Amino acid sequence: MKILVTAGPTREAIDPVRYISNRSSGRMGYAVAQAALERGHEVVLVSGPVSIPAPAGARVVPVVSAADMKAAVDVHLAWSEALVMCAAVADWRPKRVSAVKIKKRGASPVLQLARTPDILAAASARKGDRIFVGFAAETGADFETEAARKRKKKRCDLVVGNDVTAPGAGFDVETNRVSFVTVDGVERLPLMSKLEVGRRIVDWIERQAALR
Ligand code: CTP
Repeated sequence: MKILVTAGPTREAIDPVRYISNRSSGRMGYAVAQAALERGHEVVLVSGPVSIPAPAGARVVPVVSAADMKAAVDVHLAWSEALVMCAAVADWRPKRVSAVKIKKRGASPVLQLARTPDILAAASARKGDRIFVGFAAETGADFETEAARKRKKKRCDLVVGNDVTAPGAGFDVETNRVSFVTVDGVERLPLMSKLEVGRRIVDWIERQAALR
């Protein structure tokens, strides 16, 4: 299959030296890409700035901001048979980007923020027969309810939900504890490596594709 994977954070510039971002390491998305390649799928990996090596065989499209990532997804969506949106897209960007470094003298700046595009929601208008997998990284026990809400809102076939504050889950760790939320309900997976979660996601996509 042709699988489009997004990974990592996005960065939204404040000025030429500063940005707003988040704690995503890219590990979960890179693990999905690796798992898909192991199974012989073709992978385009649209990646925000990360410090981990790309899996061998992936075609990497490096991006910085949410707007860049949306443009890359828009370009490669037509090629793809499945979209796995692992990226932690920044939800806001500074409304104005200063062309020069903001100096400390004078009053502290007040940042006005604007919403970034919702890449997955925008892609859902062009979903066609594609399999869509979204992620819901939440902080709290109601993460499965939130994942179910996002699955419907963004027309995903599967949303992989997790509580990033749970032990062994979240940022910069090699493991994750996730729940698969589909139209059929919730499947809770035990704590496992992110690569193993990636393999389960690829298994799910393959099974779903075989049903179509
Ligand atoms: N996502 C996206 N574009 C955005 C924000 C999120 O495509 N601007 C994708 C993520 O890659 C993920 C899914 O949407 O697959 C859910 O992301 P999340 O940040 O959990 O959801 P939000 O829609 O931002 O919801 P909320 O702010 O209510 O948590």
